[in-house]
Amino acid sequence: MSARTESIVVLTGAGISAESGIKTFRAADGLWENHPIDDVATPEGFERNPQLVYEFYNQRRQQLLSEQVRPNAAHSYLAKFEHEFPGNFLLITQNVDNLHERAGSENLVHMHGELLKMRCLNSQLIFDIAEDFNFDTNCRCCHSPGNLRPHIVWFGEMPLQMNKINQALESCDVFVAIGTSGNVHPASDFYQTAKIHRAHTAELNLERTGSRFDEHIIGNASEVVPKYLENLLQVC
Ligand code: OAD
Repeated sequence: MSARTESIVVLTGAGISAESGIKTFRAADGLWENHPIDDVATPEGFERNPQLVYEFYNQRRQQLLSEQVRPNAAHSYLAKFEHEFPGNFLLITQNVDNLHERAGSENLVHMHGELLKMRCLNSQLIFDIAEDFNFDTNCRCCHSPGNLRPHIVWFGEMPLQMNKINQALESCDVFVAIGTSGNVHPASDFYQTAKIHRAHTAELNLERTGSRFDEHIIGNASEVVPKYLENLLQVC
C-alpha cells in the first residue's frame, strides 16, 4: 500500500447486508428463489409479466422496512470511516437496500438503483416510495396509472453514475470490495481499473472469489470490515 493514501473507493455487494437479514443473490438459499432471474430482473420479464415484477419488489421493500432488517457493524464502520478519513472517499454499492444511508454513509452511489424509489417511464422522474405500488398506481407526474416501474437496474440496462464511478476508480489509491461475488459486470471489473491506475486492491468476503486482488481477507463482513478499516485509518 502507498505511504500516503489520499483517495479510497469501496464497492459493496449483497454479502455486506447478509448479516442484516437480506439474502444474497447467488447463495443456495438466494434471493431469486422460485423466480428465474429473467422473470424478475430484466426489462423483458417486466414486459411479459409486470404484476409478478411489482409483487417481487413490493415484497423486498416490505422486508427491507421490517424491524428485523437493520445496518450491521460493517455498514456502521464504513460510515464512521468516511467521516474520519481526511481524504476523498466514495462508497459504491450494488445493493438496492438503504442500509448504508441508515448507518450514516453520505458519499454513496447506488449503481443498481434503489428499492425505495420508483421511476416514471414517460418522464424518467424518480420518486420515493415506501408502500406497495403496481400497474394501477397513479403516477405522481402523469396522474395516470401504468407508467411506474421499480428504480432498479435490470440485466441489460446501464448501471447508474458510471462517469462518477470511473473517475473515482482511476484516481484512487486504495480500492476495497466487500461481500461481492464478482459475477456481475461492470462492477466485477472495478478492481482491475483501479489496479491499472496503481491502486492497492483488497477483497473482504466470506470466501475467496476468482478475482485477483492484492489482498484477500476472508470472514464475515461484520467482523473483518471494522478491523480492516481501523487498520487502514491508522496507516492513512
Ligand atoms: P452475490 O450474491 O452474487 O454475492 C454475494 C457475495 O457475498 C458472495 O461472494 C458471498 O460469499 C459473500 N458473502 C455472503 N455472506 C457474507 C458475509 N456475511 N460477509 C461477507 N461476505 C459474504 O451478490 P453481488 O455480488 O452483490 O444486481 O451481486 C451483484 C449483483 O447481482 C446484484 O447487485 C444484483 C445481482 O444480479 C441487480 O439487482 C441489478
